[in-house]
Amino acid sequence: MSKRVRLYEGKAKILYEGPEPGTLVQHFKDDATAFNAEKHEVFEGKGVLNHRISEYIFQRLGEIGIPTHFIKSLNMREQLVREAEIIPIEFVVRNVAAGSLVKRLGLNEGDALPRPLVEFYYKDDALGDPMISEDHIAVFGWAGPQEMDEIVAMSLRINDFMTGLFQGVGIRLVDFKIEFGRIWDGETQRIVLADEISPDSCRLWDIASGEKLDKDRFRQNLGGMIDAYQDVARRLGLLSDATPEKGDGPKLVK
Ligand code: TMP
Repeated sequence: MSKRVRLYEGKAKILYEGPEPGTLVQHFKDDATAFNAEKHEVFEGKGVLNHRISEYIFQRLGEIGIPTHFIKSLNMREQLVREAEIIPIEFVVRNVAAGSLVKRLGLNEGDALPRPLVEFYYKDDALGDPMISEDHIAVFGWAGPQEMDEIVAMSLRINDFMTGLFQGVGIRLVDFKIEFGRIWDGETQRIVLADEISPDSCRLWDIASGEKLDKDRFRQNLGGMIDAYQDVARRLGLLSDATPEKGDGPKLVK
């Protein structure tokens, strides 16, 4: 384990070389950052929860035919994934006005959008992940037009599926960010869903109370972030109902 080659360390995850060529180990850290890492804190147990929630969502998406990089869970905070060439774009899908959309356009937080909105952000920390148009993507060659058609169609399918999944457990899927990569299967290249889907990368509101159950608890200094992530995991059936003893950390069930 200690001899593993670390290929990349991000704000919330580390990627190690996998056991076989074409595989990677994706390790979920307890670190939380916001506003391009201006704000940083460590929350014990966050990595374990995000790994489990992301694994669950990727598996469910796989079952409806969305190709993903996920292979299998390795331990409490690591998963084996297929190595993909990450497209340097964050794809954000929004159902409800919140976050930067509210700030940019002066909308009211919580207003439902007439239909899902797909936005693109160029992944570049030094530039603060600027919003871009589909034409920027074409002009700079970050993804081809066919790839974009496929990714946008997949993003909307993922949104439909996840909206239903969360609605079934009393949660409103406000918006989320996803990333895609390219994988070579012999001569053919495929697009796969990569990275993670977790309360770090989604806005999730309790339908009954409107309470925020995602990383906005950290961004907006609301407190109770781990409790909220545990609540999401518990509702998805990923935690035993027994309240963990203080200091015990979350109890995961399969
Ligand atoms: P935004 O409203 O701040 O643009 O965020 C839209 C969604 O994308 C929200 O669910 C949070 C997620 N997100 C990330 O996962 N990473 C990021 O760096 C940012 C800015 C947002």
